[in-house]
Amino acid sequence: MRTQVAIVGGGPAGLLLAQLLHTQGIETIVLERYERDEVLSRARAAVLERGLVDLLHEAGASTSLDENGLVHEGIRLSGNGQDFRIDLKALTGGAVTIYGQENITADLYAARDALGLTTLHGCSGMKPRDIDSDQPFLTFLHGGKMNRLDCDFIAGCDGVHGPCRKEVPDDAAQVVEQTFPFGWLGVKSDAAPVVDELLYAGSDRGFALCSLKDAARGRYYLQVPLSDAPEDWEDDDIWEELARRLPQDVADALPGGGLSGRYIAPLRSFVSNPMQWGRMFLCGDAAHIVPPTGAKGLNTAASDVQYLYHALTGYYRKGDEAGLAAYSNTALARIWKTQRFSWSMTKLLHRFPDQSVFDLQMQRAELAYLAGSEAAQTVLAENYVGLPY
Ligand code: FAD
Ligand code: DHB
Repeated sequence: MRTQVAIVGGGPAGLLLAQLLHTQGIETIVLERYERDEVLSRARAAVLERGLVDLLHEAGASTSLDENGLVHEGIRLSGNGQDFRIDLKALTGGAVTIYGQENITADLYAARDALGLTTLHGCSGMKPRDIDSDQPFLTFLHGGKMNRLDCDFIAGCDGVHGPCRKEVPDDAAQVVEQTFPFGWLGVKSDAAPVVDELLYAGSDRGFALCSLKDAARGRYYLQVPLSDAPEDWEDDDIWEELARRLPQDVADALPGGGLSGRYIAPLRSFVSNPMQWGRMFLCGDAAHIVPPTGAKGLNTAASDVQYLYHALTGYYRKGDEAGLAAYSNTALARIWKTQRFSWSMTKLLHRFPDQSVFDLQMQRAELAYLAGSEAAQTVLAENYVGLPY
């Protein structure tokens, strides 16, 4: 088998890159480890920056997004005696769109299927080879036999545990990592969302987030100790804990009832530099992770995809290698700003086990300052709606 760009990972980053390259006549094959149902069962991100929405339009995978995406022009923040709205639209002219990651992935698969493009599921033992030559290839098990895919370039869109990042030689790779001493318990509710706009709530008992899956169904997150397991939390415990952490009007309106999709995600920051080696380029969670408080993981994956898409287009259209050579530095410049924002939102709203009285006062002052300063709110809003590419 041969293609121009071999894409490892059929998550949102890999599929979006594949569709965008197709619009420029560049051939791709997507190799995914799991079956499609399993990929589509991962319900995580929901908040899309304008840049990602634009890319989905350009990729020809936006029909359902345009119909079902909810444009949100504000968010609410509460905690430490503060409770206020940040008017994203008034402060920046921008907004975010609420539309689930699982829907984006399904739309991209449907667009790919409609064009008859090749996606192989159930690929195991994936190994990038000869990436520092101009004839890289991948070997993997599929359909009960070993396969070889020759290509011009490899895009490693294989998530945080994927094999591609491991091909950057140890003495060239710098990994910067910070783990946070807590996780998020996430659940879905079939009852109507309790909020019209996302509510990020700090409290003495820790962080809570009210979000929505779509106009009809709610999604909730709670900060929990890393020692907790999802099955430790009964439905009623979750509703009760949400009520303790949320402003009274929202606590009173919580619908109660059955919850599904329980999982606990640890919070961490992680950046791997460089994001390229020879003819292999990393995109999305394969190269970096942010704590989810700023809703940036998928959006940052999209910004990588945008840079790589333009760099590959420059190469195939004009023989220009400058974009490819600069890819890692270009992508990392934006990633570090997004890391900063995600870290600042996490610090602002969570309870840390070793927080001193001084730390608590700083957190309180930060939230009070934000509540009263249009300048501070503009900084938050500009980052939340998304920095330019
Ligand atoms: P992935 O989604 O991990 O996809 C990688 C793909 O590669 C997978 O399908 C995997 O099966 C495949 N793969 C792995 N190994 C191999 C292999 N050996 N061979 C072939 N394929 C392989 N982001 C936001 O922007 N907004 C949000 O609101 C938001 N909320 C979040 C909330 C939570 C609780 C969490 C945990 C995350 C959230 N995120 C959010 C982050 C977002 O979900 C991720 O950043 C996003 O999934 C990254 O996409 P990706 O395609 O890079 O990686
Ligand atoms: C969701 C996740 C986030 O991390 C966030 O900041 C906002 C919303 C969500 O899954 O709905």
